[in-house]
Amino acid sequence: MNILVIGSGGREHTLAWKLAQSPLADKLYAIPGNPGMADVAECVSGISITDNDALVKFALEKEIGLAVVGPEVPLTNGAVDAFSAAGIPAFGPTKAAAEIEGSKAFSKNLMKKYGIPTAKYEVFTDAASARAYVEQEGAPIVVKADGLAAGKGVIVAMTKEEALAAVDEIMEDRHFGTAGSRVVIEEFMDGEEASLLSFADGTTVVPMISSQDHKRAYDGDKGPNTGGMGTYAPAPVMTPEMVKRATEEILKPAVAAMAKEGRPYKGCLYAGLMITKEGPKVVEFNARFGDPETQVVLPLLKSDLAAIMLACANGTLAEQKIEWSDGAAVCVVLASGGYPVSYQKGYEIKGLDEAKAAGDIVFHAGTALKDGKIVTAGGRVLNVVGQAPTIKEAVDKAYEGIKKISFTDAFYRNDIAHRALARLK
Ligand code: AMP
Ligand code: GLY
Repeated sequence: MNILVIGSGGREHTLAWKLAQSPLADKLYAIPGNPGMADVAECVSGISITDNDALVKFALEKEIGLAVVGPEVPLTNGAVDAFSAAGIPAFGPTKAAAEIEGSKAFSKNLMKKYGIPTAKYEVFTDAASARAYVEQEGAPIVVKADGLAAGKGVIVAMTKEEALAAVDEIMEDRHFGTAGSRVVIEEFMDGEEASLLSFADGTTVVPMISSQDHKRAYDGDKGPNTGGMGTYAPAPVMTPEMVKRATEEILKPAVAAMAKEGRPYKGCLYAGLMITKEGPKVVEFNARFGDPETQVVLPLLKSDLAAIMLACANGTLAEQKIEWSDGAAVCVVLASGGYPVSYQKGYEIKGLDEAKAAGDIVFHAGTALKDGKIVTAGGRVLNVVGQAPTIKEAVDKAYEGIKKISFTDAFYRNDIAHRALARLK
């Protein structure tokens, strides 16, 4: 079967890399893909990932038997609906189901209605009421832009002044554009965060191996929030007991709720969790694989990803056997100096082959090919993944690899997996 992957980041490179290992896979295509993905897929330029008609036309021409939609933008734009209407099996939620990520207000209301544990919250469409609520609740408190803001529209305010300033920035100054026409203001949850991705087919949901992201730009969880600077899997905070609770209290009720609402959820349902004293609570749902969680989760998947994805698309997930390796994986993101604020592009990247020779898997996140050379083309440039029997060895392997790669102003965090390593002491 021919497989199409939509997207161009490290997550999509990982998806394509894993799908290429499937015995079901014949030819892989990526729209638009990236220079790293070109190792396993034919990258196709000139088709916009939000042009559903063009995506479907391409898929029909190439006799695609499975279309995998990576990023949230084409998902919330209805790419999966378009593939399905044309009879092409597609992995990912429909436009209506992707609303679970596309609108924080929708997802918070869903959780309230179905009793899924999450922070208490209120939604506001005018700044004056939002400010009054902050005055009433006090700090710490969390202020979020409602729409998609590339993971950056969230301000965890430790003081009331900070929270009031956040309301102004989002609603009056529109720092996140139209995503700021509504704000969600919610209770601060104290605990350790973890990501629990899952496969869903509309009725059945199966958790993947747990992982933990590092969202702040700098060591010690300092600096601005980013899309994610590194991950590891599994996350020790997600004990088998905690995974079970999260599955029973969060994943299963969420998939059942979406079905009841007439928006059956198929694809990857990503639960961003806070492990609080009372148990797991939802920070956010995402309608897609995490980036860079995917980079550590999929290398540990022993089963055939293409078969699982097809089963999600056609509602037979319960029949799939999904097995995970015993070891650990660690991903360190190599970023452009200045990310996530402003950064240069076009710097030549050296040492990619040396990193691979050190045993690492190197996924491309923001690279481009220019005059036969691989150059930087984004904020998060590369994802260096070490896989090993233990988390400590996986950390060492990832850092050994990343040290071999260089480009102007490159930076990375030196403390990925610090919480897991601290538990070993
Ligand atoms: P989100 O985009 O909703 O995942 O939020 C980004 C980050 O802000 C999360 O990964 C958390 O670190 C933090 N955060 C969001 N909501 C809360 C909350 N209610 N309590 C504490 N931290 C939060
Ligand atoms: N790594 C966080 C996300 O994918 O949303």
